[in-house]
Amino acid sequence: MDQQTVVAIDGPSGSGKSSVSRGTAEVFGFRYLDTGAMYRAATWQILALGIDPSDSHAVAKAAERLVIISGTDPVSPTISVDGTDVGVEIRGDTVTNAVSVVSAVPEIRAALVVMQRNEVSAGLAAGKGIVVEGRDIGTVVLPDANVKIFLTADEAVRARRRALQDSEREHVGRDDEATAESLRRRDQIDSQRKASPLRPADDAIEVDATDLDLAQTIDAVVRLVEAARA
Ligand code: DC
Repeated sequence: MDQQTVVAIDGPSGSGKSSVSRGTAEVFGFRYLDTGAMYRAATWQILALGIDPSDSHAVAKAAERLVIISGTDPVSPTISVDGTDVGVEIRGDTVTNAVSVVSAVPEIRAALVVMQRNEVSAGLAAGKGIVVEGRDIGTVVLPDANVKIFLTADEAVRARRRALQDSEREHVGRDDEATAESLRRRDQIDSQRKASPLRPADDAIEVDATDLDLAQTIDAVVRLVEAARA
């Protein structure tokens, strides 16, 4: 496998992007970049600065102050803001409820896209391929990616998986319907925003994981990566 391969994986919330992207990166010995975690970290920093996330002017002004560092080992990815590890905090409800609004601010996107492209260049310079997951990777961040995948699954399946993940992490029961409502709200904002909305790139291959388990989905993606590079 060519170590210079760049794989873009986009899709809606709860489609399994993170587990599938990490699994795929592990198979090939590639790095892994979770751009959703970067938007969450930016949101965490905005909140920590005492800025109202719905004040787009103040959020835009804070964009130049973001200092987000991503650890790209797919076995144990990390994320920090100004030296503080925020891996746990960015998954909580406070950040989750504000992240789509912050992500819709063009100045925030511009700042993070620069960081994302730098991370990819660093990986390639080190002789490593990379799997990058997000919403706009194939369309905006890395339009020249070697492989572009749009990962989907039925909404009910996505809500069930996300509710299960949240319960495992927080050791409290999560209601599928409440989770579905939160996913719907985020997907609506993410796909209707003006700046880089969630949508498949014209040359993306769609993988529907509704009836696939994690291993089967990783397998499907690995085969597409191999085919694209053959
Ligand atoms: O993948 P995730 O659920 O952790 O992403 C959190 C939010 O970040 C998501 O609701 C939209 C935003 N996001 C984005 O706008 N662009 C990306 N490339 C990745 C995430």
